[in-house]
Amino acid sequence: MHKIKKIIEEIIKYLEENIKTNEEKCICNSIKKSILNKKTVNDIIPNIPPKNKSLINGLSSISSNKMIPLKNAIFDGYTKLYWKIDNGEYYNKNSNIGKIYLNGNMNAELIGPNDGYFKSEELKLGIFLLEQKIFYKDHIHAAPELYLNLTDGTKWRFGKKKWLDMQSGSIIYNEPYNPHGMKVGGIPFISIWCWPFNVDQKCEVV
Ligand SMILES: [Fe+2]
Repeated sequence: MHKIKKIIEEIIKYLEENIKTNEEKCICNSIKKSILNKKTVNDIIPNIPPKNKSLINGLSSISSNKMIPLKNAIFDGYTKLYWKIDNGEYYNKNSNIGKIYLNGNMNAELIGPNDGYFKSEELKLGIFLLEQKIFYKDHIHAAPELYLNLTDGTKWRFGKKKWLDMQSGSIIYNEPYNPHGMKVGGIPFISIWCWPFNVDQKCEVV
């Protein structure tokens, strides 16, 4: 089977077994719809991930049984993806997101309008990485968002609530404009993330 499609299928399989809310189900259905027509692919050129070492370290740390099929699919297919560092795609120049985030992030799109392997004008599904010990400032965006965390050790907070440990396998749904921030611990943060619409609207630091 095609290696990128295999990653997406493992994501869908995990989500179908673990999502609970209607919002999460809606996003999962949107992902499924986006890969129905296998011919809609972008012409992406795979590259060596600029944060290859962190990617390998983070993936290697995933140990819970339920995450192994997805971990293996990513190990098998990550060299077929186009990896990039967000340097203005998600934040405006004067956003105050800070150098720590800008120097420490990386993502690859599985589905997306331009850089995703499968083409979708509305939806982005990708793999997101933050290097260890990074504080990703509280931010908002117009898109609702689904995260499936792959690695342990990252704390999240939503609005003014207290910091929460989010373990490998945890699923997070964020409403549009709900402030959220992350603190990465000693293991690089790797997560599957999905924006089902409003993908062209930038994030803002709050
Ligand atoms: Fe977000």
